[in-house]
Amino acid sequence: MEQTLKNLEAQALKDLEKVTSMPELETLELQYLGRKDGSVTNIMKSLKDLPASQKPIIGPLANKTKTIIEYAFENKRKSFEEADLTKQLSKEFFDTTIPSKIREIGHIHPLSQVQEEVERIFSQMGFSIMDGPEVESEYYNFESLNVPKDHPARDMQDTFFIQEKDDPKHGRMVLRTQTSPVQVRTMEKYGAPLRVIVPGRTFRYEATDASHDTTFYQVEGLLIDKDISLAHLKGIMKEFLSRLFGKDVVVRFRPGYFPFVEPGLELDFSCLLCDGKGCRVCKHSGWVEFMGAGMVHENVLKAGGVDSKIYQGWAFGFGLTRLVMMKYKIDDIRLLLGGDLRFNKQF
Ligand code: PHE
Repeated sequence: MEQTLKNLEAQALKDLEKVTSMPELETLELQYLGRKDGSVTNIMKSLKDLPASQKPIIGPLANKTKTIIEYAFENKRKSFEEADLTKQLSKEFFDTTIPSKIREIGHIHPLSQVQEEVERIFSQMGFSIMDGPEVESEYYNFESLNVPKDHPARDMQDTFFIQEKDDPKHGRMVLRTQTSPVQVRTMEKYGAPLRVIVPGRTFRYEATDASHDTTFYQVEGLLIDKDISLAHLKGIMKEFLSRLFGKDVVVRFRPGYFPFVEPGLELDFSCLLCDGKGCRVCKHSGWVEFMGAGMVHENVLKAGGVDSKIYQGWAFGFGLTRLVMMKYKIDDIRLLLGGDLRFNKQF
């Protein structure tokens, strides 16, 4: 039996060497490995008739022979397939001179570019960057900011309400109309002292035109510490705007009303175009309106869990979208989120 196996193996390898085509290979494979009547298959089937003492010796030998033969067939098949492929490729024409496709590389949107710049400058002055939810509760967007339900100050901002179950504690859900709710969220989370800015997307139920869109970006600022006054705010904003525009900017305060600050104010900066002399852009006033701000209202500190007897601070909010428009002299707000590549590619 051992001899039979050896002979079979030698014969198979010899036969294989003579094979020159795929059909020949397939016929020969049937002869040796065919399920029904292949010589290898037959031997494997006959193993069960061997005397019990022979089985452990012949069994493994037979298996080894079978594996060697199968492997040899497999190799031969592969060599035919490879030869086939080479032939096919050599027939095809491959033009190595065709210019390759140019892959377009995108770039950062102007809104994000300016946001990064704002974050960089405030980080240098020790501010952290915070984030908050765009779908906000009425509580955080209004109540916690000292704007009770039914208070006329609610009408200062037209709000998108979400059709969702009211939060039992925090009222209806709204698309936040301002980044100010993150003031209270940050105080709740980190306590005082604090020094943060919050760039983010905000939403209002506006009739859109060249200067109003339903979606725009704001940057909130909040500084809470001991012995803080509006002088600090003036200093920080002057420094921020001067670094941003790369030239010395003058700022001024005017009285303003926001329910969550007391006193409240508006901050203007000197017109960059005419250096405060008066031109068309600043409507001949020499000043550009920039943001709302003020000392954080006691009720807001309370909502944030900050002890107003020890700490006080100021907050501000400016329109990042408006800042981008000023910086690049964009005269229609709708261009910024319109997704028109002819516009976006200019920055
Ligand atoms: N949240 C105000 C607005 O959207 C701006 C503001 C922020 C005013 C912080 C005062 C203090 O108009």
